[in-house]
Amino acid sequence: MLNLLLQIFFLVILQSRGSASAHCNFYDIEDNTITIKCSKVEKEALLSVREELIDHFGVLSSWGAGDCCKWQGVRCDNTTGHVIELDVSGISVSDFGGPKGKLSSSLVRFQYLNHLDLSLNNFHQEIPGVIGSLRKLEYLNLSYSKWERASISPDFRKLTKLQVLDLESSDITLENLDLLSHLYSIRYLNLNSVNLSTANDWWVQTISKLPLLEELHLSNCTLPSILVPSSLNTSNYSRYLSVVDLSSNINLLPSSIYPWLFNFSGSLTHIDLSHNNLPTSLPLEFGNMVRLSHLFMDSSRLVGEIPRSLGNLSNLVELKLAYNSLTGSIFTLMKDFSKNSGKSLRYLDMAVNCFTGPLVMQGFPSLKKLTLQWNQLDQLLLEGVFPNLQELDLTGNRLSGSVPDQLASHFPSLRYLSLESNEFNGTLPESISNISKLEYFFIGSNHLEGVITESHMLGLSALREIILSFNKNLAIKFSLTWIPPFQLDVISLCEVKQGPHFPKWLQNQHNFSVLDISNSGIVDKIPVWFWDLSSSLKELNLSNNKIHGVLPDISPFKFAVLDFSSNNLSGPLPILPPDVLTLDFSRNRFQGTTSVLCETNSLTYLDLSNNLLSGNLPNCSDGFSTLNVLILGNNNFSGSIPESFGSIVDIRILNIRDNILDGEIPGSLKNWKNVQVCDLGGNKLSGKLPEWIGMEWKGLIFLSLGFNTFSGKIPSSFCDLGNIKILDISRNKISGTVPKCFNKLDEMTTDTNFASTITSSYPYTSGGMSKVYILSASIMWKGIQSKFRNILGLVRCIDLSSNNLSGRIPLEITTLKGLIGLNLSRNYLSGTIPPNISLLSSLDFLDLSSNSISGIIPFSLSQLDSLGYLDLSYNNLSGKIPTSTSNKLQTFNASSYIGNSGLCGSPLPNGCPGDVIPGVPLFDHQDIAQDELFTSGFYASLAFGFVIGFGGICGSLLLNKSWRNVYFKFLSEMYDKLYVTLAVKKAQLLRCCLN
Ligand SMILES: *[C@@H]1O[C@H](CO)[C@@H](O)[C@H](O)[C@H]1NC(C)=O
Ligand SMILES: *[C@@H]1O[C@H](CO)[C@@H](O)[C@H](O)[C@H]1NC(C)=O
Repeated sequence: MLNLLLQIFFLVILQSRGSASAHCNFYDIEDNTITIKCSKVEKEALLSVREELIDHFGVLSSWGAGDCCKWQGVRCDNTTGHVIELDVSGISVSDFGGPKGKLSSSLVRFQYLNHLDLSLNNFHQEIPGVIGSLRKLEYLNLSYSKWERASISPDFRKLTKLQVLDLESSDITLENLDLLSHLYSIRYLNLNSVNLSTANDWWVQTISKLPLLEELHLSNCTLPSILVPSSLNTSNYSRYLSVVDLSSNINLLPSSIYPWLFNFSGSLTHIDLSHNNLPTSLPLEFGNMVRLSHLFMDSSRLVGEIPRSLGNLSNLVELKLAYNSLTGSIFTLMKDFSKNSGKSLRYLDMAVNCFTGPLVMQGFPSLKKLTLQWNQLDQLLLEGVFPNLQELDLTGNRLSGSVPDQLASHFPSLRYLSLESNEFNGTLPESISNISKLEYFFIGSNHLEGVITESHMLGLSALREIILSFNKNLAIKFSLTWIPPFQLDVISLCEVKQGPHFPKWLQNQHNFSVLDISNSGIVDKIPVWFWDLSSSLKELNLSNNKIHGVLPDISPFKFAVLDFSSNNLSGPLPILPPDVLTLDFSRNRFQGTTSVLCETNSLTYLDLSNNLLSGNLPNCSDGFSTLNVLILGNNNFSGSIPESFGSIVDIRILNIRDNILDGEIPGSLKNWKNVQVCDLGGNKLSGKLPEWIGMEWKGLIFLSLGFNTFSGKIPSSFCDLGNIKILDISRNKISGTVPKCFNKLDEMTTDTNFASTITSSYPYTSGGMSKVYILSASIMWKGIQSKFRNILGLVRCIDLSSNNLSGRIPLEITTLKGLIGLNLSRNYLSGTIPPNISLLSSLDFLDLSSNSISGIIPFSLSQLDSLGYLDLSYNNLSGKIPTSTSNKLQTFNASSYIGNSGLCGSPLPNGCPGDVIPGVPLFDHQDIAQDELFTSGFYASLAFGFVIGFGGICGSLLLNKSWRNVYFKFLSEMYDKLYVTLAVKKAQLLRCCLN
């Protein structure tokens, strides 16, 4: 585009010479050369232009004295002296609230103007119609301009010489669209981000009437779906159209846009159809576009195989098809391409598709960048030499076998290599050291083994970022005296064994900003020299080692992220860097109070759980207000919840479980409009359950108030918690009845699972990256206090056990068909079991024991196939335990029914009057594993949840082992978060722009 603009620009200058007339000019004769000055009239006109524009940055300070042809943004014809170019771009920018400018009506004086640039201005007026009278105008740029009333006057039709029209991202509306069809000299038309949703078929018609059009930019215009009339006369279609950008117009239909494009097959060089909705396969006809050099169709929902014909395009330079659902064998594809396209192709991006088979690297002599991450490739074979290849990204495939040897001789120019999240095994070849230009080397999440020594690294003097994380059989052993040839920026070595001593080679690294040596077997103190190493250190993860000792004052650092969790650190909390965003000191032996926390001012994530901290909860007047996640569970905090917690208005997750807190829940917590998770369980909190919880905490997903001393009734407002999945009020002194209105708990009335985890993202680094936190929660499940994390999102559970509830079990509760667990045990409930209980079709766990429930066991209960745990013991039930064809109720132990004097029949030993004595022994339950939280039927629905929750990329997701491995890897990390892989990977995606 720039090229064309420049060309046109010079053209404009040249042509203006011929047309200039010679009146009113002023000549200066100096040293025998004639200098032409601008006319007085035009000079005065310029001055009035400057006067009305508000020049916020003093860009036009040269305007005033002397020859106006020399003023900034002004150009005159060098034979006639007339102003032919006026560029006042970005003069009157009032985004910061300053006054807006105006365009002087004296614009009309510039009758010789052929180049007018008003872009990036904010005008306090409508678009002046007078522009339409500038008949010689060939270049008009109004991009990013804002106007009071932004419709274009019909006078613009007269601009029949206009060659360039740029309205990108202006607020101009084009209602009278036929205007453009009068501008028949247009060569370059840019309407990007101008709303054309009302344009109907206009744009096709108009474009069809522009015989000289070369470039068309209609990205993000909300173009309506068009149906190209077949009657359209194609004879005046431009034969010059080479650039078409229709990206981000999701209403376009493949059936209309492709046939229209193919009218220009002979001239098109650049096509951008990315971010559209074209859910068909790529048409063969693209293969006829002989001049095509750039084809961008990423994120356009393409399906099917890439037509072989595309491989014929001998001018193809860049092909972007990432983020689609394209299928087929990569081997065949590369083979087809290597004949023609492969010779010219420099950038090939087909990431996040469903390509399969082995990747055989040969051909493609010009290739600079190949990205095929997140496909299903299963083998990497190197045959040819790729002299220009700088970037190769094969992350997230199923590549197996050993890492190819001699990468350096095949890819001598390689700077970026990612083989992350594959299935490579064996040892890393030492020849890796010969890729002398390598800057980014990522091979985390594989099955590499063996030891990495300095021989792997000797030649890598350009290396800046290395990720070896999640190769749990890999170790690093450098000799103690070795000085690495590189200075690293990102060091990610999670799970790579380096211990037991703190890695000494780090002592020679001075520029790193990210260091992750978590879970690497270090049993040591942090050496004193470590704290003097790198002043640029932003993210430090030393978690899951056995690091001991007391931390020094770390306030001089600029840490954004500090993770020391799961170590043996002791002593008081250190003085912290004031700007730290994320702090995880959980699972150590820190003790004392938390007063240092109030010195920080940006914390978004704080986890101090499982330490020996004591005293009051941190009571910072406003220092905490930035927090999203606050986890202080399993300490010895005492006293009450401070009023000041109410100022943490953005909190999503609060966990202060298992401390010795007392007092009531302060009313100031009403301010928490975004809270999703609130776990106050296992304290000595008291008072009534606040009515406002149901009214103010609308987004609540998880509420645990269990194991406290709350009293009073369950407020009816709790029924308005439409998002709640887990409600635990067990083990308190709650009286009254089970609210009938529980049938309004919307989330529990659905049995569709969209995600197996409950996640919450929050700002992670100062660079704007976010981190996803996977919530874990402790729930009493089938009699065992169980920790849910990876499947927490699937749990829907109400636990009101061990209270003083009385009355009947409301029939309304059976509308909660998504309920997985219901525990009403140990209350004073009476009445009968709801006869239609089988409506709770997801129920896996039902405990009604130790109440005064009477009547018979309804037959309906025996039809609850999902049920995996049942306890009806110690009630007043009577009659025969119903038998269904599946004998569901007989699969439970007799202990599920004991303590009901009137109950009889299998599995109880006492038969009912008139029964035939059973000939088969009782069902044997010994083989049911204690730790199976759900029954197998439930796991089937869980798998369904995976597809839904993670799908949308490949249909065969569940069968795709590599994806699934990665997913499970994320989920099964021993930490309560998954940032290592995710965030670091994101960081690279941001950083890897090599060209
Ligand atoms: C006038 O300007 C044109 C284009 O910039 C240039 O090629 C030409 O040499 C100039 N003529 C004079 C007399 O300066
Ligand atoms: C798309 O256009 C709208 C206005 O129509 C604008 O607000 C938005 O920022 C544009 N998006 C992009 C990606 O340019």
